[in-house]
Amino acid sequence: MTSEIRIGIIGTGGIAHAHARAYKQIPSAAIVGVADIVPGKAAGFVAAEQLEAEPYTDHRELLSTDIDGVSICAPNAAHHRLTIDALRAGKHVLLEKPMSVTLDEAIEMVEAARVSPGMLTIGFQPRYDPNMKLVQEIVQSGQLGNVYYVETGGGRRRGMPGGTFIRKELAGAGAMADIGCYSLDMALNALGYPKPVSVSAYTSNHFGTNPKYHPEADRFDVEDFGVAMVRFERDLVLQFKISWAMHMDTLGATMFLGSEGGLKVTPHGTGNWSGVWDGSVGSMTLYHDLMGLQTQTPVPAIAHQKDLFLEKVRDFADAIREGRPAPIPGEQILIQQAIIDGVLRSSEQRREVAIELPLLGDSAGAS
Ligand SMILES: NC(=O)c1ccc[n+]([C@@H]2O[C@H](COP(=O)([O-])OP(=O)(O)OC[C@H]3O[C@@H](n4cnc5c(N)ncnc54)[C@H](O)[C@@H]3O)[C@@H](O)[C@H]2O)c1
Repeated sequence: MTSEIRIGIIGTGGIAHAHARAYKQIPSAAIVGVADIVPGKAAGFVAAEQLEAEPYTDHRELLSTDIDGVSICAPNAAHHRLTIDALRAGKHVLLEKPMSVTLDEAIEMVEAARVSPGMLTIGFQPRYDPNMKLVQEIVQSGQLGNVYYVETGGGRRRGMPGGTFIRKELAGAGAMADIGCYSLDMALNALGYPKPVSVSAYTSNHFGTNPKYHPEADRFDVEDFGVAMVRFERDLVLQFKISWAMHMDTLGATMFLGSEGGLKVTPHGTGNWSGVWDGSVGSMTLYHDLMGLQTQTPVPAIAHQKDLFLEKVRDFADAIREGRPAPIPGEQILIQQAIIDGVLRSSEQRREVAIELPLLGDSAGAS
């Protein structure tokens, strides 16, 4: 097929397999090259996934070929360099979450995308859940009036990762970035990604640094808990709380409070790993007054069989083919990075800190 999109994958660890499986289900896309910094790993990946693709150790060699786009599936610390190199080579980029380690890196990535013929989209598959679209539609419909307060996040009773996720130099932040990025994305996208102006936050790592709870406690230097109050340019505050581990069953539901109504969203599932709002919707209730009566209306969840990961990869490939802009643009996710950066600064300085985002207007819009 002449219109086939030629794809490369950079980083061939765990999540790269999900990308490969998705592209294989998209007839108009073909994986033609893969790169991994560990010698031999890309070739092993090609064999394991039964691809007709060229393996590389140096990602720049892959980027010098005639590929249209790349999935970047390397650890967080490599996202910045690989994304900049791909965009400068004129390639479209589907970057795994979280966007980057630091805010400065994220700013450079957005700047590179603005001058590249390639797009930068960040891979948040929960966006493709029709229930998430419903949350967004309700919030943006005006039914809630002026939405002035949002509470989101959640907590796992136990659910701390290890390896690269627990080192600040490699991951940037801990629970706030790893799982908090999903809650933030869902809430902020529903609100149209408004521009934050300040944050007051507290973070701690009482579980991660305790050998009783974590086998790699001596290497753990990120937060396993965080809570933040974020102010926005418009009349809106967001309370954001996340924990990888705690002595509690839940940190509560996601709530949108408006002048005319409220929306409560409880995540799907039960158990240790289910208490964080990752975009899944278990139940939804609309609180409003009807004929002067205080009323609660359950919002039925939309049953669907969608493979959300496939949807995100397909949207990237379709956007390339159709010449559409990035489905989840770097400009939006930059706002998350700014909030997480502010959380870490505020926590360290023990006071409210300003968030400066000179690259953006009033908001980055919803998608
Ligand atoms: N969207 C999701 O559901 C989801 C799930 C898991 C992980 N992730 C994200 O995906 C990314 C990768 O996670 P993972 O669990 O697959 O990690 P991983 O450690 O299993 O794999 C990363 C791979 O990248 C390679 N690599 C490192 N630096 C490189 C470089 N400069 N050039 C080329 N290859 C390089 C490593 O050798 C390794 O093979 C992380 O950012 C993570 O947050 C997303």
